[in-house]
Formats: sequence, C-alpha cells, structure tokens
Amino acid sequence: MGQSETILLTGGAGYIGSHTYVALVEAGYRVIILDDFSNAKRSVLTRLAQLTRVNEVTCYEGSVLDGALLRRVFEENEIAAVVHFAARKAVGESSEKPLAYFETNCSGLLKLLAAMEAVDVRRLVFSSTATVYGDPAPELLPLKEDAPLNYMSPYAFTKIMSEQMLEQIAASHASWAFGVLRYFNPVGAHPSGLIGEDPSDIPNNLMPYISKVAAGELPHLNVFGNDYDTPDGTGIRDYIHVSDLAAGHVMSLNRLLATNEGHVVNLGSGQGHSVLEVLAAYGRACGRELPHEIAPRRAGDVAAYYADASRAAALLGFETRRSLDDMCASSWNWIVTGAKEA
Ligand code: UFG
Repeated sequence: MGQSETILLTGGAGYIGSHTYVALVEAGYRVIILDDFSNAKRSVLTRLAQLTRVNEVTCYEGSVLDGALLRRVFEENEIAAVVHFAARKAVGESSEKPLAYFETNCSGLLKLLAAMEAVDVRRLVFSSTATVYGDPAPELLPLKEDAPLNYMSPYAFTKIMSEQMLEQIAASHASWAFGVLRYFNPVGAHPSGLIGEDPSDIPNNLMPYISKVAAGELPHLNVFGNDYDTPDGTGIRDYIHVSDLAAGHVMSLNRLLATNEGHVVNLGSGQGHSVLEVLAAYGRACGRELPHEIAPRRAGDVAAYYADASRAAALLGFETRRSLDDMCASSWNWIVTGAKEA
C-alpha cells in the first residue's frame, strides 16, 4: 500500500503487539515500539527484525506511565498515530491487584493521550476486549457492539472506563479519532514460528494451557465445567487467529488515517467453539489425542459468547481468514520451533 507514516506501537513486543508490528511494517508503515518488557522478552525484537528484514527495530524501553519518556518519543519522531497495547490483561490477577490495573490501564492511557495532545497527534487504535460485555444474556448472542456493557473484574472495568474516556475525548474535539477494537479470544502464532504467546507461569488461558499439555509439560487439561447450557456442556468462545487480529489493527488504522472517523468494532470470527472442540483440534495439530479431566466451573466464567462480526466487515472490510485448525497448527508450530529458544 506504500504508507510511509510513522506509527507508535505501545506494548509492541507483546503477544498481539508483535504480530501487529509485522502486519504494520508489511503494510508499509514505519513503526516505533515502546515497551517496558514486563510481559515480553527482548529477544522478540531480534525476531521482529528477522521477520521484517530490517536491520534493527526501533524500540524505546519504558512504561506508558513515564510522561518524560513519552514526551521524548513524540519529540524525536514525527508520529502520525498510535496503536496502544501496553496494559495489564490477566482477569484473575486484576481482582487481587486492582490498583495496579487502574494505574497501568487507565493512568497509562491518560498519560499517553496527554503526550499525544501536546504534539497534536490525535488518532489512536485502542485494545479493548469482549469482556466488556460481562455475562451476556443468551438472547444477546451473537454480540453486537451496542450490547450493554458490564464488568465482572477490575480488568474489564479498566477497559470500559478507557472506552468511555475515549468517547468523551472524541466528543470534545473533532480532530480526535479512536479505533476501539473489542477482541474476542486471540490465539495462535505467526506461521514462521518466530513469535507467539509465551506465558512464563502456568497459563490461565485455554490454548496456551493445551499447548503445554501437548508439549508434555502438563499432564492434562482441566476442563472447567461440562454442565453449561451448551451442546457438549463446555464453555463456548469465539477464537480468533492473532494474525487475523493483527490485520484488523492495520484496517482500523487505515480507516482512522483516511477518514478521521472513530469506530468501535468487535474483532472475532463470529463463530463459537467449545473447550472440547478446541482440545480435539489441537490434538489433530500435534498428532495425538490430548488428555483432559473434568474440573469444577471456574469462578467468573460465562457459558458462551461470540461476536457479531458484521460491523467490522462493513466499516473496515475485516473478515477472519484462518480456521480453528489453523490456529492450533500455528500454535503448535511455535511451541516446537520458536518458543524454546526465545
Ligand atoms: N478453560 C478450561 N481450562 C483451562 C482454561 C480455560 O476449561 O485451563 C475454558 C474456560 O472455562 C472458558 C474457555 O476455556 O470456557 C476459554 O477460557 P480462556 O481463559 O482462554 O478465555 P476467557 O474467555 O476466559 O478470557 C479471555 C481472556 C480475557 C479476555 C477475554 C475476551 O483471558 O483477557 O478472553 O473474550 F478479556
């Protein structure tokens, strides 16, 4: 496409951020990363250079809470827009450390917006989450963007609050424009096997946990409840390949830059898969049936949710291209190739 604008990518060394870095560079953008490496490895930068065939990735090491650093980044670069990932994202942890979540996710966003305003950069793509829909009534499925918002954790609260701050800032002045992207369940990895999700502890989320069972590091998957009101009794989610999600960010940014009009869109496939379906698909990817045990329901889990993906299609031209089998195959490829030496 040949865009030459410079984009600031906060949290660009993280799981979704790193995949979006590659997609932005492939779309012709010049990208600068700001990351404090609290949940990412420095080796990601070498991998990104390898993937995008550039000599060096430009990265400022530090936090979005550091106003002086933010000012320096905007002074030293002519930035056209920001894609903002840097945030805390563990639902369970947020109930134990709400202050840390309010600080990084809300204060961090405010500091970033203040630094942007000072240099008149007013376009930002924001990472939100389907968790803002809370525990949706079954008749609301598939979830449209105008479904009621409700939080079940401090994490979800920070995302609702951030979305609402952005809405009011956008209303204050026509030059602000925000692309708010509500992710469903991002999984999978880059087909090269060079970047992927790399949780250091025992994973909370389904696919990283299954990948450790497949790798023989954990004995079996605990299926959290098989008595939900779903066809096989296990929880249903809308899994989206991280590369499709990354493409959605490029489309959102393209639209912001082209129209200066904001948008709030779901990024999901529109299709739900149960825990047992995901486990079976991963078994196909790694070539053996993976063991599971039925465990009690996990507190705070909901039976089912999946996206109505039509607004993203209409506004951004977004559609997912990768199947559940693709998600599992790319995850397994990452586990057996890239993740080990990262
Ligand atoms: N599950 C298991 N066993 C596990 C882990 C998960 O059975 O070991 C089940 C859950 O009960 C649920 C499904 O797998 O039914 C998916 O669970 P995840 O933890 O992978 O994902 P969640 O839908 O709970 O939440 C995720 C992210 C949130 C994000 C949300 C957006 O953790 O940060 O998706 O939809 F906000």
